[in-house]
Amino acid sequence: MEKQRIVFATMLAMCFWASAKAETVVTLHRDEAKNIIPVEIYGQFAEHLGSCIYGGLWVGEDSNVPNTQGYRNDVLQALKDLQIPVLRWPGGCFADDYHWRDGIGPRERRPAIVNTYWGGTTEDNSFGTHEFLNLCELLGCEPYVSMNIGSGTVQETAEWVEYMTSDDNAPMANLRRQNGREKAWKVKYIGIGNESWGCGGQMRPEYYSDLYRRYAEYARSFSGNTLFKVASGASDYDYNWTDVLMQQVGRRMNALSLHYYTVFTWDGPKGSATDFTQENYWWTLGKCLGIEPVLKRHISIMDKYDPEKRVQLFVDEWGTWWDEEPGTIRGHLFQQNTMRDAMVAALSLNTFHKYTDRIGMANIAQVVNVLQAMILTKGEKMLLTPTYHVFKMYKVHQNARYIPAEIVTAEMKAAEGVCAQVPQVSVTASADESGRMHISLVNTSPEKAEKVRLNIGRGPVLAGGEILTANEINAHNTFDKPDMVKTEKFEDMKQKGSVVEVTLPALSIVTIEMNQTKK
Ligand code: AHR
Repeated sequence: MEKQRIVFATMLAMCFWASAKAETVVTLHRDEAKNIIPVEIYGQFAEHLGSCIYGGLWVGEDSNVPNTQGYRNDVLQALKDLQIPVLRWPGGCFADDYHWRDGIGPRERRPAIVNTYWGGTTEDNSFGTHEFLNLCELLGCEPYVSMNIGSGTVQETAEWVEYMTSDDNAPMANLRRQNGREKAWKVKYIGIGNESWGCGGQMRPEYYSDLYRRYAEYARSFSGNTLFKVASGASDYDYNWTDVLMQQVGRRMNALSLHYYTVFTWDGPKGSATDFTQENYWWTLGKCLGIEPVLKRHISIMDKYDPEKRVQLFVDEWGTWWDEEPGTIRGHLFQQNTMRDAMVAALSLNTFHKYTDRIGMANIAQVVNVLQAMILTKGEKMLLTPTYHVFKMYKVHQNARYIPAEIVTAEMKAAEGVCAQVPQVSVTASADESGRMHISLVNTSPEKAEKVRLNIGRGPVLAGGEILTANEINAHNTFDKPDMVKTEKFEDMKQKGSVVEVTLPALSIVTIEMNQTKK
């Protein structure tokens, strides 16, 4: 492929230098490191959809699958290793169909329901409020609960919040006690509806704004638990939704959400998760990177109404969306996950890191068995996807200070219609509290290794590295071969004073660690 060298920041001198050297040059601006990357950027999402909850997270206490209080042991452990910071539940579109009282009390007395939105599957409601909030406690993550605004009442919202969070001598708190939980849970995040412009009620933004104000008013903070209220935000390019919400709801919301999927089309086949061409690969990366201008435009609207950045932007659904795997149930959104998905994960996280003065949370869709999942299960078997490995490698950036970087690298391919350019190399860097610095690098080229010159400045000393790579863009893990794609130690790098030279293999994601020398 004829490559053109491009500057992904304004550094013409470096561009010239890079052209001569034909390598990627990264310059870190450690003195400009300001924003902390919130742990919540690494948020997850679990919906009652397909086998995300039933079979994925939850098998019940009587299952043959090894479990702890009904939660699968293998999945539990994998999620603990990932240190997931926040889990959104019960949907998605399911949330606006869900009536929480169906999911409390003795399990044998809970009514079965039909999950009409997602495949018409019957659910026995054995996973409800207690099971979700106890799971969050086991994982040590914040719950993020979406209220039913589409088909639920204000009273349901008010009572659900009281049930979960009140320690008072109040009707709902007493009902919770009766159901075996004495102390209230801590629930920080609540969503006031989901996709209220679509599956969550087909509303106009003006109407939803009023509904938000009404429902949010009755979602009260009890017993020292302060709610952080999230308004249902726009999809992709619906800038008017953001504008109206910012104008009519403003500071009544703590955050406004945004959904952006790397999806080919909403109206027809989305393409196979594993059987795709290089053309498809570049298109996907272009669509994924297309989130950056979208973010910038929503943020600029938010800045207009809220220059102090008090209202956060939550990208509370993002990720790839392919056709369901052959042989699985339509509407259950079970898809495989390849190196292409790993690239999307890394490039998206690199992008979110840049805007953390406004983006407070991001939740990849979804955690198990649905869309761009961390984990896939089949009966007793489980596998970790390439996306899981990216999240694990990147967890070092959680709660670390973002270091701005300039990069001069090649343009691999213009992905028509979705994003102007896909860079060969993408970078993100951060420094944690103990002074360790982590630099994550992505080489998007499936064919070409790339030398990267990292100008890191004085002080840090190379401490180690980890890599995720494969020979094929569609490499993935299967239940029979669960370790085809996994991380390994990375050593192809050397330091010369304030410069680190790294050779990135084709199709690779690398995180390197640097320790700070004692002064
Ligand atoms: O994540 C799957 C679905 O995508 C969610 O239920 C919905 O909010 C979105 O359209």
